[in-house]
Amino acid sequence: MKYTKLGNSGTVVSSIALGTWHLPGKGNYNENNVENVDEEEFNRIFKKCYDLGINFYDTSNIYHGRVEENERHIPETGNSERVLGRAIKGIERESLVIATKVRGPMDTFPNSEGLSRKHIMWQIRESLKRLDIDYVDLYQAHWMDKNTPVKETVRTLSHLIDIDLVRYIGESNHDAIDIEEFMHDSEIYNLHDIVTLQEPYNILQRDIEKDKLKIAKKYNLGILAYVPLAQGLLSGKYLKSNNGRSEYVPELLNMNDEYRNKIEKLLEFSKEKEISGTQLALAWLLKRSEMEKIPIIPLLGITKFSYVEENLDALNINLNMEDMKYLDEITLM
Ligand SMILES: NC(=O)c1ccc[n+]([C@@H]2O[C@H](COP(=O)([O-])OP(=O)(O)OC[C@H]3O[C@@H](n4cnc5c(N)ncnc54)[C@H](OP(=O)(O)O)[C@@H]3O)[C@@H](O)[C@H]2O)c1
Repeated sequence: MKYTKLGNSGTVVSSIALGTWHLPGKGNYNENNVENVDEEEFNRIFKKCYDLGINFYDTSNIYHGRVEENERHIPETGNSERVLGRAIKGIERESLVIATKVRGPMDTFPNSEGLSRKHIMWQIRESLKRLDIDYVDLYQAHWMDKNTPVKETVRTLSHLIDIDLVRYIGESNHDAIDIEEFMHDSEIYNLHDIVTLQEPYNILQRDIEKDKLKIAKKYNLGILAYVPLAQGLLSGKYLKSNNGRSEYVPELLNMNDEYRNKIEKLLEFSKEKEISGTQLALAWLLKRSEMEKIPIIPLLGITKFSYVEENLDALNINLNMEDMKYLDEITLM
């Protein structure tokens, strides 16, 4: 395994993290329309990743079975944390770096979502119960809450470190201007800084290069790159059938000719290199990390045991600058 730093902190994390948004499903749904989890398969995936040296795991309080707007509370909300909590049973807690998030709706009453002090103080304790651990390593604000002043959120997150419920804090999906405000407020009020940005980043989705990558470099923050495979599209498996689950990449879901063309070219290139499409996508992110001199850590969704070794082998692929130039040419055209 290769390791890097959790942003500008001293904590060491694997260069690839396992995400738990989509868990292996059984293909059938319960009465609340939530897919039943194949927990045995998840445990095998988790164990294999752990044995191969992955120590960094990302989840969220809303993953798997979330309360949709205006709907009722459903008991599965927070299930991903519970499943991860059960998978880590018996493993030395200090060998793991566990990240989770807060912001999304956990019920339908006022204050059952957001980044207010009240909501965060409730949800950190609920996440700890679901994960069955006594502190979270990285606690992240999942997306913006325009109804709560940034100062209130920053103070509350920082306070969680002081009261020993959390080790580090991070943001996800905030506007660049809000991230600057986070950094500014923690500086002037002498609070703990955020150490990571969690943002969509893959070879076809490079929006963060316009602004957030610059902020990360300015403050030496780490980037947790979510949807590193564009939700599976970069594996190439959806080229023939458009059945990808691609809510974050709608252009790709519709698979217009421009994107189809790009993916086909990427797959041709990976064939020449004798690697798979997923390995190319991951190796590209790891090389971007080296080029930008900040930790850029792919948060990888693995729903099948058979994907694990192939995906983690990407750590042994070293794209050179000529490869990177060619990849820019075929994807930025
Ligand atoms: N902060 C946020 O707002 C946010 C949002 C989204 C995600 N995330 C984080 O990012 C993580 C990753 O997200 P993601 O799962 O959507 O993105 P992803 O890693 O881009 O895509 C994962 C999907 O790719 C497919 N795949 C993986 N390895 C493969 C292989 N070797 N061959 C063929 N297909 C393969 C699988 O699809 P199938 O299951 O169809 O086989 C898998 O579910 C999440 O778990 C979560 O931790 C964060």
